Amino acid sequence: MDKEKAVGETAICSVGEGHGLRYRGYSIQELSQSANFEEVAYLLLYGDLPDRAQLYRFQQLFANSVILPQSIKAMLEMLPKTVHPMNILRTVCSLLGTVEPEYAVGAEPELAIRTIGVSITALAYWHHFHLTGKRLIASFKQQLIAEYVLTVLHQTTVDESWVWALNIALILYAEHEFNASTYAARVTVSTESDFYSGIVSAIGTLKGPLHGGANEAAMTLISAFKTPEAAKKGILKRLSNHEKIMGFGHRVYKNGDPRSPIIKSVAHQLTQRLGKTRLFDVAEAIEETMETEKQLKTNLDFYSAIVFHCLGIKTDFFTPIFVFSRITGWSAHIMEQRQHNRLIRPLAKYVGPKNRAFVPMNER
Ligand code: COA
Repeated sequence: MDKEKAVGETAICSVGEGHGLRYRGYSIQELSQSANFEEVAYLLLYGDLPDRAQLYRFQQLFANSVILPQSIKAMLEMLPKTVHPMNILRTVCSLLGTVEPEYAVGAEPELAIRTIGVSITALAYWHHFHLTGKRLIASFKQQLIAEYVLTVLHQTTVDESWVWALNIALILYAEHEFNASTYAARVTVSTESDFYSGIVSAIGTLKGPLHGGANEAAMTLISAFKTPEAAKKGILKRLSNHEKIMGFGHRVYKNGDPRSPIIKSVAHQLTQRLGKTRLFDVAEAIEETMETEKQLKTNLDFYSAIVFHCLGIKTDFFTPIFVFSRITGWSAHIMEQRQHNRLIRPLAKYVGPKNRAFVPMNER
């Protein structure tokens, strides 16, 4: 990508061919291999990796953040059970910003942690209330946020390998420079609007299948095929109909998404462990066909779909998991935008009709 055409500067994340994906200078390969999501969240929100005391304080804040306000619980019980969970999250964040408005300059990291805790817990509350009628009582006893997400959604303890896998996915999804949803958040706060309005704009933008919604669409695609042969045939047919294949292509990475090999390896290990190798073989057949036919490579969303599926997560909860993680990146960008704020107001080239004379109603 031509960095001369960049629309702004950032010190949070570097993307692009050549130098790889880095969060505040740390490579995504190293972070996903060695860090916990909490450390990465801290890095994005506060600028540096935490020491033990800072991490402990972060965990304390997170533990407090999972307690839902009464008004959010009441609203979750009223919202229909059939709507897409992304609409639930968008509404929850909007209500959170109404009942707990932004209270101080510089409070964004704490607001971000609160928003992550509320989002995860609210989605689980809504899900279980409509499934069983039970009102979830949230408490954060687990050490890792990945473990909390899985146990609160499944209402049972989960295997260590599941926590390991989700932890990596959360790290990979946490931040990605000026992608559409992050830019939407920056545009919103560039008007001096509040933190929560920025997050709500971002959630609405992430929802679409060309952005965060691609992981759900990729799962629907992969599940449509029983064998690698059927997958190849089905993809060829879709391509001949000029259909887009979700989970492939990227605006920035034209030679492959650096997150893809990492998540593919996680998907491979999980499918082996769970005896779901057919699913992985089907996905690989789709990948090979896309490479041969279109020279298009997978993006993060493709193999993430398999990972989330293996973790027992319902397909329409895939993009919400992306939200839980990306709130960190969005919040870091909201802070950065505010530090050097100038209203984001692009210009358009006008291509419509010129100089028309007004015609009164009775002459039209
Ligand atoms: N399936 C089929 N064809 C695709 C494709 C896909 N996933 N992605 C791109 N193409 C095709 C385009 O149709 C276009 O073909 P054409 O030149 O014959 O018109 C060509 O590849 C170039 O693509 P382009 O539309 O310029 O790429 P972009 O940078 O504008 O779009 C995406 C990037 C991500 C929006 C696009 O690749 C896409 O829609 N992917 C699927 C959704 C997805 O996975 N989103 C998550 C992104 S992280």
